[in-house]
Amino acid sequence: MPIKALVFDAYGTLFDVQSVAAATEAAFPGHGATITQIWRLKQLEYTWLRALMGRYEDFWTVTTESLDFTLKTLGLTATPAFLAEIAGAYDGLALYPEARAALQGLASYRLAIFSNGSPAMLKRLVAHAGIGEFLETVISVDEIGVYKPDPRGYAHVEKRLGLSRDEILFVSSNGFDIAGAKAHGFTVARIERVPAAALRIEIEATGTIDPKLMFKALRLQPEQLGFHADVTIAALTDLVSYAAIRNLPGPSGSLP
Ligand code: LAC
Repeated sequence: MPIKALVFDAYGTLFDVQSVAAATEAAFPGHGATITQIWRLKQLEYTWLRALMGRYEDFWTVTTESLDFTLKTLGLTATPAFLAEIAGAYDGLALYPEARAALQGLASYRLAIFSNGSPAMLKRLVAHAGIGEFLETVISVDEIGVYKPDPRGYAHVEKRLGLSRDEILFVSSNGFDIAGAKAHGFTVARIERVPAAALRIEIEATGTIDPKLMFKALRLQPEQLGFHADVTIAALTDLVSYAAIRNLPGPSGSLP
């Protein structure tokens, strides 16, 4: 079946989550990089814990609770209002530089976001980035009350778009999301934000895993869970080529 829709993960795929570093550094000078790393690692961990616990709370709650954890771990304090102010950085995340051109170039396909973000967060984010005009719809896990990579989420995407799984190309840079989407049966394009070789060079340069590298090391490398992306590309604009979408090569292939 030909691909009819491209469905994008939001955080880390269209939007650079590391761009909260300016806000964390402004709030706690000298701690910004460490806060940013622990916060994002813990934020995803809390989505998985809440999914396993059957205790869904929306992504705004998860985002503020994981920031609260991070600050307490580092011995820093913030009032709930200040926590919310820092977490507000998620509303203004930077769009990856090539994202707009990619969405423009893919206008002949149905385009959507499927994200852990709450509907309100995603609305603010999409409005801030000014990409709403390119998107047919924004789908949140909040509609089903369970986080990625629960297979019900990916099944919900099919239902929302009225398409079968082989008509959807799912696009993500997050290892766990790629594995989950692939396990569900989507065709998956992996955006390689941090090539393994580049990461190794960074690790060798410091002789250790600097805290700033933890997210790259733990979340942006391909998971070894037996479910691999159909294609790995360096940038969203690589999706634009018709052949790239129609003629996806086999596992771990590269674009023609
Ligand atoms: C999202 C997370 C996985 O946008 O980045 O769903």
